[in-house]
Amino acid sequence: MKERESSPPEREYLPRHIGIIMDGNGRWARARGLPREMGHRAGAKVVGEIIRHCKKTGIPHVTIYALSTENWKRPRKEVDALLELLRRYLSDMEEYRRENARLIVLGDTAPLPPDLRESIRKAQEESAGNTAITVNIALNYGSRAEIVRGARLLAQECAEGRLLPEEITEERFSKALYTAGQPDPDLIIRPSGEQRLSNFLLWQTAYAELLFMDVLWPDFTPEHLNYALHQYARRSRRFGGV
Ligand code: IPE
Ligand code: IPE
Ligand code: MG
Repeated sequence: MKERESSPPEREYLPRHIGIIMDGNGRWARARGLPREMGHRAGAKVVGEIIRHCKKTGIPHVTIYALSTENWKRPRKEVDALLELLRRYLSDMEEYRRENARLIVLGDTAPLPPDLRESIRKAQEESAGNTAITVNIALNYGSRAEIVRGARLLAQECAEGRLLPEEITEERFSKALYTAGQPDPDLIIRPSGEQRLSNFLLWQTAYAELLFMDVLWPDFTPEHLNYALHQYARRSRRFGGV
């Protein structure tokens, strides 16, 4: 069974935070002679199942890369389809209530359509007290933009005399990022065979384990996630030590 395992590893070997670069929707559609939008629709269907599996397995933080700051370069029709899927996903809070999941959007929401921004605001507010799992959706997210935004926030505090430059530490800087207060990802999974981060969590992945898988995102199952977790459990993390 390639890239699949029927069960996850023991809890003590699990990551606390995983990041998933959902990729391969377009190729999945093309292989079936379908428009790319159909690949995104198939990909969106997988998200809920994978998040439920993370929760059941005992992974407290998950970040899903849903739309990058660079994805606006795609044809208007495709971008609209992606926004429509996100709109549907973020306005359906039933699942989050049932799963006791907290939802946080990472990224610049200002350029998004007003109704989508409102859905995001409501979803974050309503789920703020949920405790079983934190689900970050990276939406109009770019890591370099996030770092520049953080630098500006700190510069502003300095300019206002509320912060001294020497008080800017790695910890303080982390708090100026969208992921403030959450542990750094231990594992990044990228399906589709591409081996790059594509501007995803560059600061936070300084010591993350990276796993590139051949499966396309719409075909990704809980068994693929189990496989990824077993690969992670086998890695020896040294953080520069011996
Ligand atoms: C990932 O699938 C979804 C988003 C980027 C939003 P792609 O659309 O990038 O799929 P491929 O890489 O073209 O197969
Ligand atoms: C990264 O995938 C962005 C998301 C998954 C949302 P892309 O398909 O956009 O990345 P590249 O263009 O292959 O680097
Ligand atoms: Mg892609």
